[in-house]
Amino acid sequence: MQHILDAILAGDTPADDFAHLDIPDHYRAATVHKDEVDMFEGMAAREKDPRKSLHVEDVALPELGPGEALVAVMASAINYNTVWTSIFEPVSTFGFLERYGRLSPLTKRHDLPYHVVGSDLSGVVLRTGPGVTKWKPGTEVVAHCLSVELEDPDGHDDTMLDPQQRIWGFETNFGGLAHIALVKANQLMPKPAHLTWEEAASPGLVNCTAYRQLVSKNGGDMKQGDNVLIWGASGGLGGFATQYALNGGATPVCVVSSEDKAEICRSMGAELVINRNEEGYRFWKDPHTQDPKEWKRFGARIRELTGGEDIDIVFEHPGRETFGASVYVTRKGGTITTCASTSGYMHEYDNRYLWMNLKRIISSHFANYRESWEANRLIAKGKIHPTLSGTYPLDQVGQAALDVHQNAHQGKVGVLCLAPEEGLGVRDEEMRSQHVDAINRFRGV
Ligand SMILES: NC(=O)c1ccc[n+]([C@@H]2O[C@H](COP(=O)([O-])OP(=O)(O)OC[C@H]3O[C@@H](n4cnc5c(N)ncnc54)[C@H](OP(=O)(O)O)[C@@H]3O)[C@@H](O)[C@H]2O)c1
Repeated sequence: MQHILDAILAGDTPADDFAHLDIPDHYRAATVHKDEVDMFEGMAAREKDPRKSLHVEDVALPELGPGEALVAVMASAINYNTVWTSIFEPVSTFGFLERYGRLSPLTKRHDLPYHVVGSDLSGVVLRTGPGVTKWKPGTEVVAHCLSVELEDPDGHDDTMLDPQQRIWGFETNFGGLAHIALVKANQLMPKPAHLTWEEAASPGLVNCTAYRQLVSKNGGDMKQGDNVLIWGASGGLGGFATQYALNGGATPVCVVSSEDKAEICRSMGAELVINRNEEGYRFWKDPHTQDPKEWKRFGARIRELTGGEDIDIVFEHPGRETFGASVYVTRKGGTITTCASTSGYMHEYDNRYLWMNLKRIISSHFANYRESWEANRLIAKGKIHPTLSGTYPLDQVGQAALDVHQNAHQGKVGVLCLAPEEGLGVRDEEMRSQHVDAINRFRGV
């Protein structure tokens, strides 16, 4: 791979040279193995250690199909989906690969005894398959993680509704935590020129998800003046939701679990912050019984911060632990948008508070093509910034995933793939200098 890396690092290699670079038939990648899916059986989720299940090894380069691109990956990032894959919860992702493999001879390539994981990348296009005209070898790109077939009409208005909708690197193989990735060319988007490789790779999945969930008319449809309750407001999703709320003239009410995290939210411009640990909310008395008194205490605290107002939109993802409280604190006619269930997917809430007050629960999942493009455009314009707190080399991908699994991280955890060090890949220094403080806000916190 050294000759590919040299061509990228040179910064001025002609596109034609890229098109003629030899691509090795094997490449380094972070994988989980099908014959290890039972390795954590009987253990509690929090004890399952991604360092044991994630391998970094050489794998065979997949054949390039129509409409696809091979990308030299300079950097990637950890998403929670890689945590789920690596602890084989709630199900092993090999079932996804098997199902995808049954679709066509082309998708059969994905059904392998190993799964190359990762749903973010920044890098350089190496080769494109038949039918690709827009993207050329040598172009610096990021990739969003929506993989669709679009053969059915269902997804033609909103590509997330395609029956064959999958998350690349989670429900498909050949993901971004590797030296080379295989993507559909329509996942590609321009790399923001003012960012380093690792910064550019980090927003992808969570930025697009937060955009749909909060801003898009398919999600919260947030407007100026809305009070937005954001769980995990300095985390992967929440770090972007907080920025979108502030950018859009809304008032974020940020919930976090430590003073460090509260400080990050304030540094983004949020004024209303709740430290859930310090204030000791216990929404469940025991694993089966919620405590409405605690919902009320939480609601009272929100009113104290907002000057008596309730929440217009709740940005939900913790799930079982918080969902009852989220429904309770939403104002009459307000919206709870949910995209995940980190603490458990069997949610329980008091439906009287929902129907009597005409509240709505809206489900949201990643983002369609257009939403992804808009979310990346906002990064490229310097209106939304990466939330990268640090990086690991690819060889330590297991530790990077463990940090996220144990909630020991801030914002996003990056992974250097081909990039030999941090700080490379900036093409617009002038624009960077205008935003450098915001870009570095989560660094080393
Ligand atoms: N559907 C989609 O398209 C999509 C996309 C991205 C992510 N997700 C899912 O969304 C979830 C969050 O992802 P992420 O990348 O934001 O993860 P993350 O970086 O770990 O951030 C989540 C934050 O939520 C807070 N949190 C966790 N458990 C909580 C609990 N029981 N009660 C209250 N707060 C809690 C924590 O913040 P504090 O400790 O500071 O409170 C944590 O840092 C994951 O389950 C992920 O799989 C779904």
